Amino acid sequence: MTTAAADRSDLFPDRLVVAVDGTSGSGKSSTCRGVATRLGLRYLDTGAMFRAMTWWMLEHGVDVHDPAAVAARCAEPVLESGTDPAAPTITVDGVDVAAAIRTDAVTGSVSPVSTVPEVRARLLRLQREIIGADVQPVGIVVEGRDIGSVVVPDAPVKLYLTADAAARASRRAAEQGAADVAATEQLLLSRDAIDSGRATAPLVMADGAVHVDTTGYTLDEVIELVVGMVDRVGT
Ligand code: DC
Repeated sequence: MTTAAADRSDLFPDRLVVAVDGTSGSGKSSTCRGVATRLGLRYLDTGAMFRAMTWWMLEHGVDVHDPAAVAARCAEPVLESGTDPAAPTITVDGVDVAAAIRTDAVTGSVSPVSTVPEVRARLLRLQREIIGADVQPVGIVVEGRDIGSVVVPDAPVKLYLTADAAARASRRAAEQGAADVAATEQLLLSRDAIDSGRATAPLVMADGAVHVDTTGYTLDEVIELVVGMVDRVGT
């Protein structure tokens, strides 16, 4: 269903795309928003799109563990993503779901929904429309799991962010005000396993990606590193 990476070298020749993939809780979102803000680029959180699709399935009583049921309905929701890094937005059928897509219910169901090839094919089309949109600024920082491998395989800057599971769990738990760091770590590890093990567009380090282990670094240090990489390829 997804387009083969090999024939996509002509995808976005006129624009800077910074492709950032990595595990849950590795600091992708904060890093990407910081880099986009510093460089005056747009920002797209593709995880939010998978979460929005999942929210809609739950709202409509679709069994998220039934791939055929999810596939049958996944063309219906109207998703809109705002790409201002200072205030990214996401709506489904006109409803602001920015908060609703971060609930435990959505987090617990997003991996099975993301494994459905029809969901991935639809969101791939939407992601490429947003990346290629005729708007200013044209450059964009895109975060997800398959950005450098499938969505924009010819992106001039590709990063693969990871961090120790314990560090990721304590960051995530702090963000969410959750007390149980061990439980958060287990949830992160089980999402990693599903994200990496699925047949369609699994989480992998893309060809040409630079691996950054963020465990020992502050957010500002990681942003600085990525800004330096982008500067070297030229904006
Ligand atoms: O980045 P996040 O945790 O908000 O992503 C939520 C889920 O969406 C994650 O478990 C895997 C899936 N996802 C994906 O399969 N492909 C992407 N490009 C982005 C996210």
